[in-house]
Amino acid sequence: MAAVHVLNGPNLNLIGTREPAIYGSLTLADIEARCRAKAKALKLGLVFSQTNHEGELVDQIQAAGRQKAGIVLNAGAYTHTSVAIHDAIRGVDALVIEVHLTNVHAREGFRHHSYVSPVAKGVIAGLGPFGYEAAIEALAELLRQRS
Ligand code: DQA
Repeated sequence: MAAVHVLNGPNLNLIGTREPAIYGSLTLADIEARCRAKAKALKLGLVFSQTNHEGELVDQIQAAGRQKAGIVLNAGAYTHTSVAIHDAIRGVDALVIEVHLTNVHAREGFRHHSYVSPVAKGVIAGLGPFGYEAAIEALAELLRQRS
């Protein structure tokens, strides 16, 4: 069964209570439930995880890439800083859709640059939790085309 790994980076464990005016009131568990429902409907396996540690995110990207799983990646602030995450995606030729809850381009200047975007298949920003569901749907199609 084709699979999607939804990988979340630092501070995403806090959403629901973190700056609700920016990130909304849904928790990461709520987003996970939506992702599970979407993956089930599309007959995809789903791994959902969150880490605050850059190296762990690198390990998770490598593992998903090696398994030929599609990746929904919200790398949080590491998006804007991490050459290691950029290199991990390239290193395993991972199929990545970059997702952000918020429209990072409408926010502070330091959020406008992404180390993930140049190595992602696509980017979804500003659609809130729906962005994760849209990314899973896109990956279902891309994985189908690849198989
Ligand atoms: C975020 C945007 C990042 O700039 C920020 O550091 C986050 C969350 C988003 O989902 O909108 O932690 O990735």
